[in-house]
Amino acid sequence: MPAYDVLIIGAGLAGQRAALAAAQKGASVAIMSKVHPVRSHSVAAAGGINAAVNPADDWRSHAYDTVKGSDFLGDQDAIEIMCREAPLEVMHLEHIGVTFHRNEKGEIDLRAFGGASMKRTAYVADITGQALLHVLYEQMMKFHEVIDRYEEWFVTSLVIDDNGHCVGVVSRDIRDGKLQTFSAKSVILASGGAGQCFKPTTNALICTGDGIAQAYKAGAPLMDMEMIQYHPTTLAENGFLITEGARGEGAHLLNSKGERFMEKYAPNKMELASRDVVSRAEQTEILEGRGVGPEGSGIWLDITVVPKRRTLEALREIVNIGKDFAGVDITREPIMIQPGMHYIMGGVKTDVNGATPIPGLYAAGEVACVSVHGGNRLGANSLLDTLIFGRRSGEHAAERAVGMPMPTASLDAQRRDEEQTAEILSRPKTGRRVSEIKEELGTTMNRYVAVFREEAGLQTAHEIVRRLKEEAKTAYVDDKGTVFNQDVLGAIELDYMLTCAEAIVVAAIERKESRGAQFRTDYPERNDAEWLKHIDVSRNGAETPHLSYSPVTITQWQPEERKY
Ligand code: FUM
Repeated sequence: MPAYDVLIIGAGLAGQRAALAAAQKGASVAIMSKVHPVRSHSVAAAGGINAAVNPADDWRSHAYDTVKGSDFLGDQDAIEIMCREAPLEVMHLEHIGVTFHRNEKGEIDLRAFGGASMKRTAYVADITGQALLHVLYEQMMKFHEVIDRYEEWFVTSLVIDDNGHCVGVVSRDIRDGKLQTFSAKSVILASGGAGQCFKPTTNALICTGDGIAQAYKAGAPLMDMEMIQYHPTTLAENGFLITEGARGEGAHLLNSKGERFMEKYAPNKMELASRDVVSRAEQTEILEGRGVGPEGSGIWLDITVVPKRRTLEALREIVNIGKDFAGVDITREPIMIQPGMHYIMGGVKTDVNGATPIPGLYAAGEVACVSVHGGNRLGANSLLDTLIFGRRSGEHAAERAVGMPMPTASLDAQRRDEEQTAEILSRPKTGRRVSEIKEELGTTMNRYVAVFREEAGLQTAHEIVRRLKEEAKTAYVDDKGTVFNQDVLGAIELDYMLTCAEAIVVAAIERKESRGAQFRTDYPERNDAEWLKHIDVSRNGAETPHLSYSPVTITQWQPEERKY
């Protein structure tokens, strides 16, 4: 049976950074991903990475902006670590080959981003995540003797021993359908978020909440699950992201009257208020009849105010997206956008080293909740989160492995997973298709668990999710083969998404206030007296999620009214 000191699930930025950090600590490392690593969803963080690299800036200012952006739900000890370590991480990226944009003095150039008190976002045009991902992958090549790569392997279970420790995983080789158990002293989940619970979403098809659901099923608590980010600028038809970098470069948001309506909602920061604020403002304009487009369901993003040369240089990817997916030349005319599901602030609860309450199990990146984003993440803090906490979890997991005997994972989980696969393949065509259930889940979540929420809608969403969970048990697949059987993986992913969706909905029902991305029209005010706390969701052996609370860590910034 293959055995490693550190086994990492997911090969986006958090996973690759963890692998490199663990390898540099001398650990034997494997990294496993259901897609080729450079196709990971980290590419979608297009606009840049935040760090106080400008000598006139200070990590404390970055930390304060992040705390304020989180609507004071973020844990300030973790935010301090992230922002303090950010400049060194960006310099490290530069040294290993990331070609950050430079200004006329030859320094790393910085662009404005939402919720930031000064320009703090380092960038590579509008392909920053992609640029980082390729450079880290090259670095992994350099470490090929100590980092084994399992590309196109799909994890089906975490293996937990009789002492409640995580000692490995079961995984399916997608090429031939065979299951294999791996032993590991430490397992790091870095498998990304759960955006596919919503439709539309900016998230790739691979973002099906696998790690969140696997950890939850193994008994790890989830935290801040109700906090779902709607990005202010996504294409109406298909949810494609139009980077916040556009507004960072000066683009305007306009309603049907041609007004820059952000003047009403955030007079100081305008289009560069935090994402929750901008998305709510757009949705309000749409609901009050000032939306654009045939159904009045959109807002104009006017990039023509940015000099064309700058757009072609710094925003070239959205020039292509505009042409290819909306038939719009963004250098000549406004493009119609709307708020769209983009990110989950919640995830597997961890400490600042990525450790979960299950010994041997770590989590980093969007799958995790440290919690550095609290109620709302600032744009360009997600690349940073993946790298800082990916590195820290890799180092910590490697240190834990030193001097520890290699555990042997039992084959029981593999047997259960083999039976589960056989059961999925044997289902008659009497149930619903996996894709139909997924479609209903996505549209339900987007209707009831979106920018504005209220009790009745959330309860309806919960009822639908529970029905879909039942229907998923008999959902059939067409492909009965073993080679690249995406149908079977889709059925397993559907179960993961429904698990995540239920955790999101029950936490949103529980939080009876408005904070960050959770805006309850029936509880429109933030209520620090009762709700300045995290909601934890755990399985505790029962089918229905168990809810509890944990305190928010406050170090130096007391909650105050949030204005932009
Ligand atoms: O708009 C964007 O470029 C997205 C960045 C992010 O989510 O951090």
